[in-house]
Amino acid sequence: MEIKNESIVVLDFGGQYTQLIARRVRECNVYCEIKPYNISAAEIKEKGYMGIIFTGGPNSAYDDNGPKCDPDLFKLGIPVLGICYGAQLMAETLGGKVIGIQDNREYGKTEVEFNTSSLLFHSAKENNVCWMSHTDRIEEVPHGFKITAISKDCPVAAMEDNKRNFFGVQFHPEVQHTVEGTLYLKNFLYNACGCNAEWKMDSFVNDTIDYLKEKIGNKKVLCALSGGVDSSVAALLVHKAVGKQLTCIFVDHGLLRKDEGDQVETVFRQQFDMNLIRVDAKDRFLSKLAGVSDPERKRKIIGEEFIRVFEEESQKLGKIDFLCQGTIYPDVVESGAGQSAVIKSHHNVGGLPDDVGFEGIIEPLRDLFKDEVRKAGLELGIPEFLVFRQPFPGPGLAIRIMGDVSEDKLDILKDADAILREEFAANGLDRSVNQYFAVLTGIKSVGVMGDGRTYDYTIALRAVTTSDFMTADWAKIPFDVLEKLSNRIINEVKNVNRVVYDITSKPPATIEWE
Ligand code: XMP
Repeated sequence: MEIKNESIVVLDFGGQYTQLIARRVRECNVYCEIKPYNISAAEIKEKGYMGIIFTGGPNSAYDDNGPKCDPDLFKLGIPVLGICYGAQLMAETLGGKVIGIQDNREYGKTEVEFNTSSLLFHSAKENNVCWMSHTDRIEEVPHGFKITAISKDCPVAAMEDNKRNFFGVQFHPEVQHTVEGTLYLKNFLYNACGCNAEWKMDSFVNDTIDYLKEKIGNKKVLCALSGGVDSSVAALLVHKAVGKQLTCIFVDHGLLRKDEGDQVETVFRQQFDMNLIRVDAKDRFLSKLAGVSDPERKRKIIGEEFIRVFEEESQKLGKIDFLCQGTIYPDVVESGAGQSAVIKSHHNVGGLPDDVGFEGIIEPLRDLFKDEVRKAGLELGIPEFLVFRQPFPGPGLAIRIMGDVSEDKLDILKDADAILREEFAANGLDRSVNQYFAVLTGIKSVGVMGDGRTYDYTIALRAVTTSDFMTADWAKIPFDVLEKLSNRIINEVKNVNRVVYDITSKPPATIEWE
């Protein structure tokens, strides 16, 4: 979507903070994109980027096999900021020298001394803490550069050529532990590149709506709405652009949390007056799932049935021109734009099979990170409970019921999960714990209630803290909250006589139980 007036390109050399760099740049209200390290200088020029940032990476700049940029990009007259490996690569490419460090490798918080007459460190403190993580260092800066920061073990913690606007920093300005990192980035973006901080969510929302109006014209759009934040924001942008030319299909597979289907319907039909078709497909899904206990099989059945229901409903609507999807920027990067690309291919990207028959796909959030999607959602007036909804897996509660799924089991789980969510909200845990839910374990055990013996289900509670959902810690929930949860679930939910709390991190466990 060509709606950005000014943008920065982040070249990915395989560093672990690539997406974080891009997010930080956007937090400075400058739009930026991530591209593979070997993008050509010609493409950079053609796109009109106002600045280039090289990320860190695991290689050594003096290693012939390491990733190298197109050396011609230094001739474009565009400012460049190299970070860690990026700084070393800049030094090596422009005639400086990089060496491996035998002793005194720097890792972690490090005191750095700055020359504040440097453009990059303008109005910064002369001494401050930065985050270092390197096993090589710049030994000699290239011709035209001067050293602008040092640390005890790093003679070139930063360098700059202020004629050509080239900057290199050995530390990571994007990491929170670098106390004034955002200031250094702003100096690069505003003072070196001349960006005007125009990337803001209100302008994104308005520009996107204008763009969609033009692109869609008087044609028709279809969207699969799940109630998750991405599809909700994507659909609402299209709705604001073309109103009732958009039809949303909400496939209610009956595996959502308690009352969730009704909430989604209320928000989109009543609050936003959207053209919404809610398909009550619970019976279809439950009959397909009956007697199936293998987790992968359950997931597959749900995925296939979902597509079938969606296709059947969309066929009833006659010809539809566009399909709207909630693909977001990390999906795009992980599917091939960046260096980490090859590792995994996301299911949202790549489109539908050819025979689906849409003229095109509309992905209004393709350029946004998750936190930006949330900001856009709030800007559009989507209620906070939807915008800040915790992640919920596509297969829904079916993968939180161990073994085969039935309506009775779903009812038990929904009630227990609703109590968990209520108590987390009441105790202020709903924003600090990133994901929390109940699981209906396949276990039945003996208990005693009143004077009678019981033989009933065990509910497990799962709550994790995580920033990326790739690794997670079990949340340290106060005992009194756990006690209340246990009491309420046993007293209020039929057929449950035991509650346990899952104290396993990921890895070795996963967040979901199936
Ligand atoms: P795991 O269980 O793999 O989950 O540690 C990591 C995160 O992914 C969510 N998850 C899914 N999300 N479709 C989704 O959209 C799925 O099939 C799916 N399975 C797991 C999970 O809730 C957690 O946030």
